[in-house]
Amino acid sequence: MDKNLLGGLSPRTFLRDYWQKKPLLIRNAIPGFSGLLERDALFEMARDEDIESRFIAHDDRAWQLERGPLPKRLLRRPVSTPWTVLVQGLNLLLPEADALMRRFAFIPYARLDDVMVSYATDGGGVGPHFDSYDVFLLQGTGRRRWQISAQKDLSLVDGAPLRILRNFVPEQEWVLEPGDMLYLPPHYAHNGIAEGECTTYSVGFRAPSAQELGTAFLDHLRDRLCLRGMYADPDLAVQTDPAQLPAAMVDRVAGMLQDIHWSRNEIEQFLGGYLSEPKPHVFFDPPDEPATAKRFARKAARSGVRLDARTQLLRSGRRFWINGEAVEVPAGVHATLRTLASTRSLATVGEDDTALHLLHDWYCDGFLHVGARDG
Ligand code: SIN
Ligand code: CO
Repeated sequence: MDKNLLGGLSPRTFLRDYWQKKPLLIRNAIPGFSGLLERDALFEMARDEDIESRFIAHDDRAWQLERGPLPKRLLRRPVSTPWTVLVQGLNLLLPEADALMRRFAFIPYARLDDVMVSYATDGGGVGPHFDSYDVFLLQGTGRRRWQISAQKDLSLVDGAPLRILRNFVPEQEWVLEPGDMLYLPPHYAHNGIAEGECTTYSVGFRAPSAQELGTAFLDHLRDRLCLRGMYADPDLAVQTDPAQLPAAMVDRVAGMLQDIHWSRNEIEQFLGGYLSEPKPHVFFDPPDEPATAKRFARKAARSGVRLDARTQLLRSGRRFWINGEAVEVPAGVHATLRTLASTRSLATVGEDDTALHLLHDWYCDGFLHVGARDG
């Protein structure tokens, strides 16, 4: 891994001392970095109905929030007033943003969420707030002043259209230049104010809530539920009030439901599927005229393959999940798939490789493409 990214710290030291614990400012984390896209390209994304975007402006009195797709008139506001545009999921749209996110591969892919980009005019920003997730804030073009605070008071302004801290008391602040980066753990109060026009790239992480996991796990379990038997009461006794729910009935049903159980194995199966599931607005583009298996094999042998930026391929031991589905992996394919899962590409695929059948299916689904590199 590139040593600058964590300011000379090894991933091990970073995880031990900072991750989920305390902020870290890294000057020149990515030397020479000056953003991944032009302002107009960013605005074009914000106008697209398939892309999640927000417009935020404020004056001394109030905050304004508009959700995308954003109309042109908002994006033509004079740059002399503070406003900002944020585009989510840049990693799904731009190979360079996916590559940026993968620089953080010392953290499991199952924890990576997305790259967001923001453009702000002088004084623009989303206001003092906290996020529930870890974030690396990487400065693209221009400069941004970041103020942060370990304050415990996380109460929010009532009635504001976005989450603004009511009493933000900055404890530390820095002006970030292109390529500088600030890591913040969850629930750390922060405020980023553009100094002149600027862009910032946020690499965000994913931490599902217990409620979200619990609900999804119960759905998973329900789909697999297979209970035998029926309610029976050969020992039914006369009771004085027929409206009374019999206590023996409750006991008997409790016994029947005890057959619902799960193992760690079931939890692993659930988690692999759940965490590799694409987000609701994500769709794959299968090739218009997919190459036959034979032709695909020839091309893959020559140029290799790479996963689509939207594809999530996770594994646990010899189990694999791709985009929400568990994969039946034939013997002899594990090593190839392991490499594909961790490096997200294969420089070449042998023409008689047993993985070919699987890879061709994924290619037909739009989950992967021929060519180990983009372009
Ligand atoms: C921004 O880029 O303006 C907002 C990023 C954040 O505070 O999480
Ligand atoms: Co934030």
